[in-house]
Amino acid sequence: MSEPLVTVRNLSRTFDVSKPWLNRMIEREEKRFLRAVQDVSFTIGRRETFALVGESGSGKSTVANMVVGLLPPSGGSVSIEGVDIWKRDDQARLRTLRKKIQMIFQSPFASLNPRWRVDRIIAEPIRAFGLMRDNAAIEAEVGRLLKTVGLDPADGAKYPHEFSGGQRQRIAIARALSSKPEFIVCDEPTSALDVSVQAQILNLMRDLQDEFGLTYLFISHNLAVVRHMATRIGVMYLGRLVEVAPARQMFQAPRHPYTRMLLDAVPDLEMSGRARKPVDGEIPNPITPPAGCPFNPRCPLANGRCRTEMPAPVSDAYGTVACHAVAEGRLAA
Ligand SMILES: Nc1ncnc2c1ncn2[C@@H]1O[C@H](COP(=O)(O)OP(=O)(O)O)[C@@H](O)[C@H]1O
Ligand code: SF4
Ligand SMILES: [Mg+2]
Repeated sequence: MSEPLVTVRNLSRTFDVSKPWLNRMIEREEKRFLRAVQDVSFTIGRRETFALVGESGSGKSTVANMVVGLLPPSGGSVSIEGVDIWKRDDQARLRTLRKKIQMIFQSPFASLNPRWRVDRIIAEPIRAFGLMRDNAAIEAEVGRLLKTVGLDPADGAKYPHEFSGGQRQRIAIARALSSKPEFIVCDEPTSALDVSVQAQILNLMRDLQDEFGLTYLFISHNLAVVRHMATRIGVMYLGRLVEVAPARQMFQAPRHPYTRMLLDAVPDLEMSGRARKPVDGEIPNPITPPAGCPFNPRCPLANGRCRTEMPAPVSDAYGTVACHAVAEGRLAA
């Protein structure tokens, strides 16, 4: 593989979730920390879609926010085109890089100002980055972007509340495209939409990827959504990446017991040949994670070693897995 566009190394983020100082003094409590993301490493090649999946609270959005530059990491690094975006020692290159990175959120309300007309919303990155100055040219560009995402240039005169959820997500996509980005981080972009609308937005995103040579970091709690989007998939559990594999490989031969559990819960999976089962058990409290492998309280293969020793990620020709049972060959294929 050529030089990856994005390289994430040992990325970690801890949140201080302590009670206020006075309460802690009175109740004699220690400070409390929540390790939302721990030691997460992956790369994304150009024009690839790397998906991050995992149940709610597994740390996906925290990773996304650190990768786009919205949230400072507690440790590790994020490099895009070889520039460490958190080191800030190459400000000029970082500025050029900024316009190449965009984000699409789950709720388009987060990114669409309700008091602005759609044409102003879409033009905002063009103006902010100083990509065009002539108003007529900007107007023409906005009309073109609206058409690109399947809307009408006349829609630019309307306000976000005049559109359906799916149309609003199209507006958010047009806005993201307006700075001609190379890399788009999509955090659950279709999770708030009806299933039929979801499919339309996913198809649009794939078409845009082909047309503009985009690279995606695509985040979803739903493996079925990711299946038709991703080239490679990373599975997160309690802040850690437990398995990374090419999408086809992950669906045909999942290795980590947690990946298997997630796949067993996905409907319409003819390929796996396994019956559908709901995901068992609950995610432990991330403030007090279990000792050893974080998945051990829910894992059918857990043994004594799993309850004391954290499994290290091991890479081979198929991908990367962090599991003692896989490393020991205890797992039946
Ligand atoms: N700003 C914050 N302060 C404290 N805890 C946070 C903050 N943001 C996220 N968390 C916690 O970090 C963990 C991971 O959250 P998140 O990255 O949003 O997960 P996901 O996107 O996979 O649902 C959760 O336990 C969440 O409660
Ligand atoms: S390390 Fe042990 S507990 Fe963790 S997933 Fe593997 S078998 Fe299960
Ligand atoms: Mg999230």
